[in-house]
Amino acid sequence: MESQLVDPFQRAIRYLRVSVTDRCDFRCVYCMSEKMTFLPKKELLTLEELDRLCSAFVRLGVEKLRITGGEPLVRRDIMTFFRSMSRHIESGALREITITTNGSQLERFADDLYAAGVRRINVSLDTLDGEKFARVTRWGRLPQVMRGLDAAQKAGLKVKLNAVALKDFNDDELLTLTHFCAERGMDLTWIEVMPMGDIGNEDRLGQYWSLNDVRSQLARHYTLTDLPDDTGGPARYVRLEETGQRIGFITPLSHNFCESCNRVRVTCTGEIYTCLGQEGHSDLRAPLRSSEADATLEDAIRAAIALKPKGHDFDYSRQTVDGRVSRHMSHTGG
Ligand code: GTP
Ligand code: 5AD
Ligand code: SF4
Repeated sequence: MESQLVDPFQRAIRYLRVSVTDRCDFRCVYCMSEKMTFLPKKELLTLEELDRLCSAFVRLGVEKLRITGGEPLVRRDIMTFFRSMSRHIESGALREITITTNGSQLERFADDLYAAGVRRINVSLDTLDGEKFARVTRWGRLPQVMRGLDAAQKAGLKVKLNAVALKDFNDDELLTLTHFCAERGMDLTWIEVMPMGDIGNEDRLGQYWSLNDVRSQLARHYTLTDLPDDTGGPARYVRLEETGQRIGFITPLSHNFCESCNRVRVTCTGEIYTCLGQEGHSDLRAPLRSSEADATLEDAIRAAIALKPKGHDFDYSRQTVDGRVSRHMSHTGG
């Protein structure tokens, strides 16, 4: 289907990321402060409203839907939503429905996700060291996530690990994480840390580990071949010839990829953010609630996309943190 959603820079919007909750059972140091205040539950879109909203985007040409959070699997009854969305996979309108999760609830939900038509998931995991894992997530425990990974693979889900590259934290785990993923047949993607939200005393510049450096360190141990693969997301991939596995790089700081951006985000309260790295957003909840017919909602979606900015302004190159945005990653779902 031709996309009806084309932004002012001629980018067709095919990819919707929806955050279904701002809550999380972890408190990752680069993502949240320890004391977070969450939204009152009555502010959230209901599961039926989320369904109507996502279905409107599908009608307008979105082909890829990613469910995020906070931690999406802590939202009560979320499987009802997944089961309902699977009709768009069956009809062929959606190519893919997938999820970005911290893995804590996968042991419970992996089979249900598969049954709802999910085939591929991204699990955030920055370290394989139990003590470091507890430190970076504050509230998380590694064995629970490991059991989640086992359950996901057993259920038939293809798993990609996402690791935020953090200097003096997981820079010594480049090879162990690579081996771990090779053994388990999982892709691994590294992400540069972005200046989003007030995270207390953590220092963004001190955390930043450029993926140029990750790549050159990998190249000392493996033969890297650039791949043309495009999952429709921001990662660029290489193959390690010795193991055959794929390694992805998401480089908002060292190499801006906004020119090919095909995505928008909706928060759990129905705000649409057309850029992860900008403050601008519009409300879709009022149009959603104002009329049972979807014409008002579709007009509001088109109007928001007409305002999509060219890209983010994150920049650490002057040894200062520029382009920071005030909201936390958990607000827009990464
Ligand atoms: P695939 O479908 O596997 O390609 O996934 P993806 O890379 O689209 O999604 P994933 O949830 O794995 O994205 C990983 C992280 O990349 C997100 O949590 C964000 O931190 C970052 N990211 C995704 N999209 C954007 C974007 O548009 N801009 C910026 N700056 N970062 C992004
Ligand atoms: N910069 C980069 N990635 C982040 N994530 C959370 N906060 C940040 C940040 N400031 C990642 C998580 C997860 C995804 C949803 O976003 O680790 O992989
Ligand atoms: Fe939760 Fe993900 Fe943020 Fe960690 S990065 S606190 S797992 S939303």
